[in-house]
Amino acid sequence: MILVTGATGLVGAHLLYELCSRGQRVRATRRANSNTNFVKWVFKLYTDNVSELFELIEWVDAEVLDYQSLLDATNGVSIVFHTAATVSFSPSQEQNILATNIRGTANVVDACLENGVKTLCHVSSIAALGDRNNNGIIDEECKWQKSKGQSAYARSKFLGENEVWRGYEQGLRVIVVNPSVILGPGRWNSGSGQLFSMVSKGMPFYTDGVTGYVDVRDVAKAMVFLTLDTEVNGKRFILNSENLSFKDLFSLIAAVSHKRKPFIRIPETLIHIMYPLIFVVTMGKVSKANLKSAFTKSYYSADKIQALGFTFTPIAQTIQLMAKARDGR
Ligand SMILES: NC(=O)c1ccc[n+]([C@@H]2O[C@H](COP(=O)([O-])OP(=O)(O)OC[C@H]3O[C@@H](n4cnc5c(N)ncnc54)[C@H](OP(=O)(O)O)[C@@H]3O)[C@@H](O)[C@H]2O)c1
Repeated sequence: MILVTGATGLVGAHLLYELCSRGQRVRATRRANSNTNFVKWVFKLYTDNVSELFELIEWVDAEVLDYQSLLDATNGVSIVFHTAATVSFSPSQEQNILATNIRGTANVVDACLENGVKTLCHVSSIAALGDRNNNGIIDEECKWQKSKGQSAYARSKFLGENEVWRGYEQGLRVIVVNPSVILGPGRWNSGSGQLFSMVSKGMPFYTDGVTGYVDVRDVAKAMVFLTLDTEVNGKRFILNSENLSFKDLFSLIAAVSHKRKPFIRIPETLIHIMYPLIFVVTMGKVSKANLKSAFTKSYYSADKIQALGFTFTPIAQTIQLMAKARDGR
């Protein structure tokens, strides 16, 4: 049996679809207030066969901070895909982020060890990687370092990944993926969906930052590929399709939304001067670390997984799918 945690999330729903469309039976975790309609909505984007595929799913209630619920969920399971996490950069969410992503992941590892699960595939993040190497590129070898102003989310993903490496030391087969910013259909009020929503209404501004982007379908495919189709063990893989400047990404979104491309560059100095005002207007939801990332230029390499024959969807195609899915809602 395969278990997917966080199955009602963006990655989880796509992972469920990837596994079910391969005919795999899957146990999937949700919480009391989880919205499983989102999973159905995702399935409908890709198939007319929703009810048949949904029959392959056994839903169980599990909360990663409740160890007993994880022990029940992992009972009789051989492979766990751990996607559940609090994905937030809001300083007000700090305690929740640290608890879910560190203690919650430690609980998943312990439950796997206690129940004799063989394989754990964990979704980490580029936030758990270190600074660029001498070539100016960030790869899997770049070591994370604690630094001032780092987000609680980055800390939580690094320390959560460490819990998974502890499991590896204790005999679990471990695969870690470190996706860049994940783009995909749905969830217009949070994460990358929020960004898409905002830019698609017409956004004149852009900043100088560069970062990596990956299609959510590729994240799901890569996890299944590495876990089921290879014997990889004890390795981490960056999942990144392209490194794009904000101007380029916003221009792609503006093009599919028939809006004008961004044309006003915001210099970093202006943001620093305005930070106290931004802090008050956003009620503390935007930290200095959030703002800094809008100006940071980070280039990621996915050579390691590409060397295994894995290929990525171009981001222009992902943006088209996001626009089409929204129009079709
Ligand atoms: N989104 C990105 O750009 C990105 C980039 C790199 C890495 N990642 C990583 O990818 C993974 C999936 O992210 P996502 O974008 O799919 O996030 P998401 O859409 O917010 O989904 C998070 C999932 O985790 C579940 N969850 C949250 N707290 C939980 C708890 N305490 N106990 C049990 N389940 C809990 C949520 O359940 P509910 O439905 O009940 O809320 C939801 O199913 C995370 O590990 C994240 O750190 C994301």
